[in-house]
Amino acid sequence: MLSETFFVTSLFCAVACRTIYLEHNTITLEEVTFLRKYGYMEEAEGDFSVEADFAYTDLSVEEALKKMQAFAGLPQTGTLDTETKKAGYGRKRCGVKDIIKNESTISRNKRYILQRGWNKHTITYRVLNGSSTLDKSRVEALIAEGLAVWAPHGMLRFKKVETGPADIKVSFAAGDHGDGFPFDGQGRVVAHAFPPPHGAIHFDDDELWGGDPDAEDDDITDFFAVAVHEIGHALGLSHSNDKASVMYPYYQVPTEKLQMDDILGMRELYLKDGSPSDIEDDIESSSQSSHVPRFTKPDRGEVEENEIPDLCLTNYDTLQVIRGKIYVFEEEWVWVLRDRNTLEEGYPKRFHEVFIGLPASVTVIKTIYEKHNRDIVIFSGRNYWQFSPSFRLMIRGNLSDYHIPPEVPGLTTVFISNYNNKTYLIDDERFWRFDEITETMDDGYPKDMSAWREVPYPVDAAIIWKGDTYFFRGPRFWRFDNSLIKAHEYYPLPTAQIWFDCEASEDMNQYITNDGP
Ligand SMILES: *[C@@H]1O[C@H](CO)[C@@H](O)[C@H](O)[C@H]1NC(C)=O
Ligand SMILES: *[C@@H]1O[C@H](CO)[C@@H](O)[C@H](O)[C@H]1NC(C)=O
Ligand SMILES: *[C@@H]1O[C@H](CO)[C@@H](O)[C@H](O)[C@H]1NC(C)=O
Ligand SMILES: *[C@@H]1O[C@H](CO)[C@@H](O)[C@H](O)[C@H]1NC(C)=O
Ligand SMILES: [Zn+2]
Ligand SMILES: [Zn+2]
Repeated sequence: MLSETFFVTSLFCAVACRTIYLEHNTITLEEVTFLRKYGYMEEAEGDFSVEADFAYTDLSVEEALKKMQAFAGLPQTGTLDTETKKAGYGRKRCGVKDIIKNESTISRNKRYILQRGWNKHTITYRVLNGSSTLDKSRVEALIAEGLAVWAPHGMLRFKKVETGPADIKVSFAAGDHGDGFPFDGQGRVVAHAFPPPHGAIHFDDDELWGGDPDAEDDDITDFFAVAVHEIGHALGLSHSNDKASVMYPYYQVPTEKLQMDDILGMRELYLKDGSPSDIEDDIESSSQSSHVPRFTKPDRGEVEENEIPDLCLTNYDTLQVIRGKIYVFEEEWVWVLRDRNTLEEGYPKRFHEVFIGLPASVTVIKTIYEKHNRDIVIFSGRNYWQFSPSFRLMIRGNLSDYHIPPEVPGLTTVFISNYNNKTYLIDDERFWRFDEITETMDDGYPKDMSAWREVPYPVDAAIIWKGDTYFFRGPRFWRFDNSLIKAHEYYPLPTAQIWFDCEASEDMNQYITNDGP
């Protein structure tokens, strides 16, 4: 306790001085245009350039910046700091909006924002032309490969047509090309697409399109990576704020494989009417077929350093205490910590090597917990896999066994409280309380996550560590005070520096929201 207080105090002192010198960055017209264009700010009436100074208050810009930062996975400073400038503005990205008006009603419980799909499972496509750097036949080949990535997840069949109308229409165009969304020359917006029933995909012809994902040249934009993303739009998906997702709006190469967000989006759009077992079989079997060569990492004995994510960036998917140690999951990797800031040797490992029998279709672990009987349960969508204390698959089941209503697509966090020994099952904004001894759901659930006062949600993880309850979300964590029933006042603190043994970074100051003791 003493050491923790000391740490908090010294941490605060080390960073507080910085805050005083925070510069006030005035926002430019270009930046407001960016926020507006991607849906973070309301469109102003009338001639925008004239009214820019009046239409937006400092507060509304700050709010918009925070939203944009949250979506891009940046610290939410609400100011235009260097990181935001570098990581957001000016970077290559998709031209489709991140925030679609009225999305609050559609997407409260989902990170992927759904629009609508095609009302059929056989979809036609046509490539109208190629670019100066990529001829039409190469574009057709890469588009076919991109479609194949999505197809199994919606049980879709794609048929190429050479002439006449098609559902998905692929073309290259530069500048103003007649749809009201002009391209902007090389860099920044590289492509955009229209959801069903429109289905057009436009690639900016001013980009230097490349057909080789391993090309090192920053000026070259990898066509396949962008095509997979735009096909997602043409099938009805919107942007995801999950950096691992193919539907993340900023350009990133290489595109590894579809993530749970992408797959759930497809299921929602195209498999809702299928029977549950259909869906499950589909997910099982599709994992093989969607592993087209470009998406599968070769299973080399040796792991290249640059394949392993950097924990210090706190893009972890979840973490949980198992066998008295902290397991941290990100992408297909798991790290084990003996204690705060104390990594176990030999990690990260691929979690498929640790959890024997976990299906290959589980490509990311978002929720895991250890039961009282020491079995370990991994959740993915509505399914779960239960492992013995020696990490061997024992049982597979679905959320109905936990009495979670059928309309809940999945959980974000599960943990057992040390306060009452009950199992808390959390989706984005609600939680249920399950009694594993009687196998019954407690009355009065679900409840709203706001019951955990001062804890933000959705949470990425909740753990019990040395008798205390901690909630984790993105780069920060909170300690929950069971007696006050709210987060302890000295939190949040930065997760990377306090758990993952990362160096103090400049942006630590924005994590300190309360005055120290
Ligand atoms: C959002 O959409 C719903 C219908 O889906 C509509 O009733 C509501 O008025 C819309 N809200 C806004 C702010 O546009
Ligand atoms: C490709 O086709 C589209 C649609 O017909 C057209 O607008 C565009 O100019 C064409 N691009 C090239 C590079 O020919
Ligand atoms: C869940 O599992 C039960 C049996 O344990 C089965 O009857 C039910 O159909 C399954 N539901 C889904 C949605 O898979
Ligand atoms: C919770 O369970 C543990 C062991 O399973 C037991 O030692 C403890 O007393 C229980 N606590 C409560 C509050 O029931
Ligand atoms: Zn996009
Ligand atoms: Zn266009």
